[in-house]
Amino acid sequence: RRPVILDVDTGNDDAVAITMAATHPAIELLGCTTVAGNLSLEEATDNTLRVLNAIGRSDIEVHAGLSRPFAPTPYAYGANEVDGVFHQNTLPVGVSGLQPRSWHGVEWLIETLRQTTRQVTLIPVAPLTNIAAAITVAPDILDSIDEVVLMGGSSTFGNRTLSAEFNIYTDAVAANVVLNAGIKRLTMAALDATHDVLVSREDLHRYRTLGTLAGDLVSAVTEYYIDGYEASAGPIGTASSAPPHDALCVAYAIDPKVIDTTDAFVEVDTVSPYNYGRTAVDFHGNRGEPANVRFAKHADSALFHRILDECLRGECRA
Ligand code: BDR
Ligand code: CA
Repeated sequence: RRPVILDVDTGNDDAVAITMAATHPAIELLGCTTVAGNLSLEEATDNTLRVLNAIGRSDIEVHAGLSRPFAPTPYAYGANEVDGVFHQNTLPVGVSGLQPRSWHGVEWLIETLRQTTRQVTLIPVAPLTNIAAAITVAPDILDSIDEVVLMGGSSTFGNRTLSAEFNIYTDAVAANVVLNAGIKRLTMAALDATHDVLVSREDLHRYRTLGTLAGDLVSAVTEYYIDGYEASAGPIGTASSAPPHDALCVAYAIDPKVIDTTDAFVEVDTVSPYNYGRTAVDFHGNRGEPANVRFAKHADSALFHRILDECLRGECRA
């Protein structure tokens, strides 16, 4: 089983990612760290605990990390003002008020990676604040990470502003720290790929009929999520479907064939008022820099759905 740590700002699609990592037999979920992003740190942590509790996996450790980005966002050119529809205080699942473990998320990440004798896959599906902090304080942890699979960025248009994707935009400085850290294998599930996969209201109906905790949870959370997309003016998703971005990273950890990647040099704009938080993706070596990212341009939607169904059909395993 592939040892995985998830860094989340739960979040609807985060909830699907957590559920997949907690249920699929190919993954051993070592723990979750939480960070401010979609919601405040407290809300994201509470949501994460409630998701794990609702699927019968409260044994999985949750550690609260950083509550603010390295750099607040100075510009929001063409911001998607209806983005707030995704930033609910609560998910429609589980009991509130559960407590995270007492470690600080960043310290737990560092200690866990220092103590392990295994190679761990790190999956950040949120602003990169915790990951940048951990790598800055303890660059030696990179020796224990076989791959970072992150949700973020775009080589085309954005979803938070005209050109910037939400996770990268929200802590663009942290994103540049991570991109420049010399990570052995850094796979980026960008909007280019995550927009290839949609979950529809018909899918939800199927999940509900499975009669599993995981099926019930993903069905409830995603219904809420599709309602949010329906209310937004965004270019992707329809009245009956939405892209479960974060879940694609976990699907990839289960079966890498689910995305196609192209090597590229990627850096984040932290200067321009128009493009703040945009990932400049150099596929052709124009900048003369070696590739630092395996950039996902496309995803295999049918394979994604097979993997997700597999996760939801099985009961959760410790
Ligand atoms: C990303 O932004 C967040 O709102 C989602 O949870 C996902 O991680 C998509 O751009
Ligand atoms: Ca997220």
